[in-house]
Amino acid sequence: MQKKSFYFYERWLNSLGLFDILKKIIDAKWIKHSHYKSDLYKYSTSQFLIRHFFGYNGHQVNHNTGNLGFGFLHYAFIIASRPERILCIGSEQGFIPAICALACKDNNKGHVDFVDAGKTSKNKNHWGGTGFWKKNNPQLHFSVLELENWITPYIMTSKQFAKKYQYKYEYIFIDGDHSYPGVKFDYETFWPRLATDGMMGFHDISLKGLNGQDEYGVWKMWKELNKKHKLSFEYLDNSVGFIQKNE
Ligand SMILES: C[S@@+](CC[C@H](N)C(=O)[O-])C[C@H]1O[C@@H](n2cnc3c(N)ncnc32)[C@H](O)[C@@H]1O
Repeated sequence: MQKKSFYFYERWLNSLGLFDILKKIIDAKWIKHSHYKSDLYKYSTSQFLIRHFFGYNGHQVNHNTGNLGFGFLHYAFIIASRPERILCIGSEQGFIPAICALACKDNNKGHVDFVDAGKTSKNKNHWGGTGFWKKNNPQLHFSVLELENWITPYIMTSKQFAKKYQYKYEYIFIDGDHSYPGVKFDYETFWPRLATDGMMGFHDISLKGLNGQDEYGVWKMWKELNKKHKLSFEYLDNSVGFIQKNE
């Protein structure tokens, strides 16, 4: 019989609604790393990152080769600019936030605040949220590759986060509410909290049309930002764009 991976059993238990219950029963300290060990040995670090944090085509990853796609961009920016504090808004299972945390760990400097509303596909305005962050322990999820000290997950909307915390950042990546008012809110709220020379990135800057009942609007915001800011650049099929704050 073919050996099944941990993920097979995770999905199977999830479908029976048992995974959460089991997770609560098993002490978090004991579980740490142990159930991922076989996958850690089986795959390269980058393949493991893609698999565990669900890097997908939208970030141009390739699981077979371990190509981290846009993950490399984030990693390189952070390694080169050595930010003190990073903000990531929105991620289905933590792929880009984990890469940012890995770069901080490799720099031995910096910290990632990761904010996700924890939406499920049943919510209006879920933008790809699958309920993952409410079904799983976020800190435990990041504890593989020993990232937990480099990242703090906040399961709340960016609006709630902005009201509760007033941190300043040198690097911000926005991939949460993809509607025009949603992304405009994130830009207008966090731009003043970005340091001079800091970078702000946006995902899905060219997607148009509907996501369920919700209309993509990052493209519209990006068009406005392109005119407004001196330095902006975008990559491959306009999937990701960055602006630098230099005023
Ligand atoms: C899955 S990701 C990014 C979508 C992906 N780029 C795609 O193309 O499908 C979007 C995440 O943003 C989260 N989200 C949606 N609205 C949000 C908000 N207002 N604040 C924080 N997170 C939000 C959702 O829970 C979801 O996990």
